[in-house]
Amino acid sequence: MGFHLSTKSHVLGVVSGILVLLSLVAECRAERILKSFDYPAINCRKHSALLTEFGGIGDGKSSNTKAFKTAIDHLKQFATDGGAELIVPPGKWLTGSFNLTSRFTLYIHKDAVILGSQEESDYPHIPPLPSYGKGRDGAGRFSSLIFGTNLTDVVITGGNGTINGQGRVWWDKFKQKKLVDTRPYLIEILFSNQVQISNLTLIDSPSWNVHPVYCSNVIIQGMTILAPVDVPNTDGINPDSCANVKIEDCYIVSGDDCIAVKSGWDQYGIKYGVPTRDMVIRRLTCISPDSAVIALGSEMSGGIKNVRAEDITAINSQSGVRIKTGVGRGGYVKDIYVRKMTMKTMKYVFWMTGDYGSHPDDKWDRKAIPKIENINYREVVAENVTYSARLDGISGDKFTGICISDVTIRLTQKPKELQWNCTNVEGVTSQVTPQSCDLLPPSKGPLQCTFPENQLPIEGVKLKTCSYTASKKMM
Ligand SMILES: *[C@@H]1O[C@H](CO)[C@@H](O)[C@H](O)[C@H]1NC(C)=O
Ligand SMILES: *[C@@H]1O[C@H](CO)[C@@H](O)[C@H](O)[C@H]1NC(C)=O
Ligand SMILES: *[C@@H]1O[C@H](CO)[C@@H](O)[C@H](O)[C@H]1NC(C)=O
Ligand SMILES: *[C@@H]1O[C@H](CO)[C@@H](O)[C@H](O)[C@H]1NC(C)=O
Ligand SMILES: *[C@@H]1O[C@H](CO)[C@@H](O)[C@H](O)[C@H]1NC(C)=O
Ligand SMILES: *[C@@H]1O[C@H](CO)[C@@H](O)[C@H](O)[C@H]1NC(C)=O
Repeated sequence: MGFHLSTKSHVLGVVSGILVLLSLVAECRAERILKSFDYPAINCRKHSALLTEFGGIGDGKSSNTKAFKTAIDHLKQFATDGGAELIVPPGKWLTGSFNLTSRFTLYIHKDAVILGSQEESDYPHIPPLPSYGKGRDGAGRFSSLIFGTNLTDVVITGGNGTINGQGRVWWDKFKQKKLVDTRPYLIEILFSNQVQISNLTLIDSPSWNVHPVYCSNVIIQGMTILAPVDVPNTDGINPDSCANVKIEDCYIVSGDDCIAVKSGWDQYGIKYGVPTRDMVIRRLTCISPDSAVIALGSEMSGGIKNVRAEDITAINSQSGVRIKTGVGRGGYVKDIYVRKMTMKTMKYVFWMTGDYGSHPDDKWDRKAIPKIENINYREVVAENVTYSARLDGISGDKFTGICISDVTIRLTQKPKELQWNCTNVEGVTSQVTPQSCDLLPPSKGPLQCTFPENQLPIEGVKLKTCSYTASKKMM
């Protein structure tokens, strides 16, 4: 009997010993994956922590809202002591909205997926933006999944780790008009300086994906952003009233604009008066069958100026770099420089819209006309195109200083007869086929439209190589 028992407990002991060992091995393996890696960032951090140290459970089912909050509340204290990084290790981490802090890096491992909660109660209600007056879908706004305001030096990066917004429920509710507030974005950073968002894959956002607003010194790099092309408002990246912005090496598939440059809406944006300026976009690949590769507007009431875009590839998109504005917007779009665009299967290569509707309310100013000037496009090759250009200025408010040079457009099998449809625009073209409209006549001599030679300040910012090394607790 006694012998029997002790054998049993011995067996149990061995089994539990093996279990303990196995789990140790598993943990060590997780640690080993994470033992050390390098990543580029505007600033490296002195302190590191793993989400699992704050109760995080990466099973795809448990909520990590509290773990993120506890972790970031704890790491906040290091802002004045070299900063901190929070590592999201391999696993599936379901969470509601959480807030970032200054001198902070959120690092999402390549095998980590942050899953956005589908519960409205997991997203606090936040006030509308001052430059918009109200939410874009509704009166107020749900906070974005990852939110930050009034920060200095914040980095969201990873080895191509994933943030999945699980947007389906939000798209359905929006279509059924069941939401009173504007859907959450995946990442929104407000009133912040020194922002880096890089090397992540964003999937199925409820609405816009990345929204830096009232920020300066913003670097967005190496992003893959994917949404079904038939769902509403899943814009890729929306720099909004921001200065010194660099967007590079992104691949975006969206039901809305791949990049939409904005600066506030009608009377609210005019009053707030903060432009988006000094921005460069390069090496972007976009698929956007119903929208623009790069939209300037439609909300541009604080102004948009000095935007450069180059090395842009578009496939199956509605238009290239499109200006969207209308009476009531006020503001301006000026000093826009685009070169080296390659496009295939496009409805419009060039599109400017001067009668874009959509007003926040009926108090918009009928006299607030936008000023559109000095818009330059060169080195554009497009094939399988339906319309070369549709350029609609505003009656009594011509769009001026348009320059288009070195453009080859090959048309689809059934092209429209009027290839260049221009009204209320003024400018010049050179080496453009098919031939442009009378309002944009060929230049007398040789002409290459301007693309500035100088660098923007943000282009001079060098990233540091940061090294993460697992703490000494394990192994
Ligand atoms: C994040 O900060 C904003 C603004 O301070 C606040 O309204 C919101 O409730 C915070 N979100 C969370 C999840 O705590
Ligand atoms: C954030 O900055 C803005 C603009 O400077 C300011 O109006 C606002 O009060 C600040 N908010 C917080 C929570 O500090
Ligand atoms: C990142 O992941 C996405 C989705 O899996 C993939 O399509 C893309 O090629 C990856 N990017 C890089 C740079 O590895
Ligand atoms: C992004 O990933 C690429 C390829 O892995 C790497 O070369 C690059 O330095 C990374 N950049 C940033 C800003 O994370
Ligand atoms: C050309 O464009 C049309 C739409 O205008 C599209 O249906 C067709 O598939 C495209 N052809 C190729 C070869 O991409
Ligand atoms: C040309 O553009 C004008 C103004 O937008 C529009 O009314 C007209 O229908 C267009 N013409 C053709 C043939 O597409």
